[in-house]
Amino acid sequence: MKERVLITGASGFIGYHLIEEALQQNLDVYAAMRKTSKVDHLRHFNIKYTCPDFTDPNSLKQELRENKYDYIIHAAGVTTARSQKEYNQINAGYTRNLASAVLESGIKLKKLVLISSLAAVGPLNSLTGIITEQTAPHPISAYGNSKLMAEQNLKEFPSLNYSILRPTGVYGPRDRDIFIFFKQVARGIEPYIGKVEQKFSFLYVTDLAKATIRALFGVNHKTYNLSDGNFYNRYELAANIKEVLNLTTIKFHLPVNFVKLIAKVSEKYSSLSDKAAVLNIEKVDELMAVNWWCSIENAKADLGFYPEYNLKAGVAETIKWYKANKWL
Ligand SMILES: NC(=O)c1ccc[n+]([C@@H]2O[C@H](COP(=O)([O-])OP(=O)(O)OC[C@H]3O[C@@H](n4cnc5c(N)ncnc54)[C@H](OP(=O)(O)O)[C@@H]3O)[C@@H](O)[C@H]2O)c1
Repeated sequence: MKERVLITGASGFIGYHLIEEALQQNLDVYAAMRKTSKVDHLRHFNIKYTCPDFTDPNSLKQELRENKYDYIIHAAGVTTARSQKEYNQINAGYTRNLASAVLESGIKLKKLVLISSLAAVGPLNSLTGIITEQTAPHPISAYGNSKLMAEQNLKEFPSLNYSILRPTGVYGPRDRDIFIFFKQVARGIEPYIGKVEQKFSFLYVTDLAKATIRALFGVNHKTYNLSDGNFYNRYELAANIKEVLNLTTIKFHLPVNFVKLIAKVSEKYSSLSDKAAVLNIEKVDELMAVNWWCSIENAKADLGFYPEYNLKAGVAETIKWYKANKWL
């Protein structure tokens, strides 16, 4: 009989690729979604759907007892929210509820893999050095704080089999966040905030999906930073996009204070309409951080994680998909 995996956040960007890889590895996939989730793009997959209520530990327990999962990948989460409280409730609170429900349900879960984020550690302030799993966490955003809290919540259940993955910025087919930058560059505009030298890191989404499935079968209670292993200067993403699209752009640097002002206005406007701001001060701080380069040596050693895509190869694949699906 096939082993059974519950994938939360299945309707999202990363969720799609997790499903694809889990099926590839011959797992029986249950996609957790909300009643409001859009799942038309998942219809071609041979999977089952379920709508667990993460706010209700009893309903979660019932869900787990009914389906007796072997594995859980917890990818549901918010990357933009109205307040720290909302980030914490969803990213950290749901993780706690899920972990506690697993133990109380009595199911023999072989592993829960939490998709955390490198934002939980935060960037380095200097160009020298590299973020490792030993780097003391100091998140610089409410989002990062909530992901760190999610990790801490999980660690409160030592009898649970779990692993924590901290991917850096993930891009690839279906992504809508970094896509905003792809679209600007495709229009011939290359905007930057300020002029400081920076080190960025990236991870192509199928490499994340492969690492996640490997983590299901890996050692327990370990945390892994994930990227493609390289660092890139602030111009390299656009350079790769331009090369694939064969175009030239107008490059310009917006003053930091001007962007922060726009972010502030966006925050204010969103709070009036009770929505989460897409651009906020903390996002600007994360985008301007000096050093997001992280070591993936632990993931290589323990999970055999050798990313297939560097930025050049990943950007080419991503643009192929955006074009085929008329996003670009
Ligand atoms: N993308 C990145 O660069 C990146 C990097 C590091 C870590 N991560 C983490 O990876 C995970 C997936 O991110 P993503 O990029 O795939 O984001 P996404 O496309 O926005 O997907 C988020 C998923 O979480 C679900 N979700 C959101 N709020 C929920 C709630 N209140 N209850 C239940 N489900 C909820 C969404 O369901 P609906 O479809 O119903 O909204 C969706 O399935 C997140 O935990 C994120 O923090 C992402």
